Amino acid sequence: MSSPPTSTSSHDQGRATVARIYDYLLGGKQNFEADREAARRLLQAIPDSANIARSNRLFMQRAVRTLAEDGIKQFLDLGSGIPTQGNVHEIAQAIDPNIRVLYVDIDPVAVVVSNQILRDNPTCRAIEGDFTRPDLILDALADGDLASVIDLDQPTAVLYCSVLQQVPDDRIDAVVTPIRERLAPGSAMVMSHISATVADRYDNTTVSEGKAVFRARAATEITLRTDAQLAALFGDLTLLEPGLVPLNEWRPELGEPDPYAAGPTPSPMRGAVAIDL
Ligand SMILES: C[S@@+](CC[C@H](N)C(=O)[O-])C[C@H]1O[C@@H](n2cnc3c(N)ncnc32)[C@H](O)[C@@H]1O
Repeated sequence: MSSPPTSTSSHDQGRATVARIYDYLLGGKQNFEADREAARRLLQAIPDSANIARSNRLFMQRAVRTLAEDGIKQFLDLGSGIPTQGNVHEIAQAIDPNIRVLYVDIDPVAVVVSNQILRDNPTCRAIEGDFTRPDLILDALADGDLASVIDLDQPTAVLYCSVLQQVPDDRIDAVVTPIRERLAPGSAMVMSHISATVADRYDNTTVSEGKAVFRARAATEITLRTDAQLAALFGDLTLLEPGLVPLNEWRPELGEPDPYAAGPTPSPMRGAVAIDL
């Protein structure tokens, strides 16, 4: 990772972004004071926040490894974030160096840093894009240039890792369904998401304070979802075992540094991997 942080415009440093807050929580360097301050406030409200982020990365890595081992050759990572350790292409290409990955993020820092580390990786690319505009994503992939990275007529794994809680209920179906329905047979969808069960674990004030940090500092509204709501997002796809579960319970691996592995309390995020049989 390069340091100091990559700046893409003179306005970057005024307001926090979700990508850079998350980068800070994971111990990354691609963040500014506004992001660090937002992350500190988040940690004050929800001290578990960094553990939640770490556990999410480990889930994403296990899901990618599983799908790469099952023979998926292309990964579309929507809301991919700022690269840290164990990025999708590293995990997948350790299994098959020819696997292709397209990273899509709305945050220019995430895209610039991703393309820096992908410089010598001709089968992977990062683009700036808004996954809440699936029409634009699908148009971009229909274009000859990007279609050489992701050919949607071939089995593709779409990743929505810790991103869909940023989409309100009245938009979520319109955001996810067009992408899911465009997938070719043999494709897969990976999702991780903050669970509505956080409301059982933390009191209302704690949850409200956590949401308020994202609202005030990063202009982002967080929506919690129940298991039923999350399961519905997979449509007709078939959930792989063990289904939709706390992230640390999705095919845990021995010796993994998951902060929730040994404790009595599971991750407050749910995750699942589903395939189109
Ligand atoms: C919490 S991070 C998750 C990063 C990564 N998926 C992971 O699980 O490690 C959320 C990411 O979603 C990105 N994001 C938020 N809204 C987006 C949108 N509408 N389109 C594309 N990316 C978006 C943010 O910039 C951020 O990088």
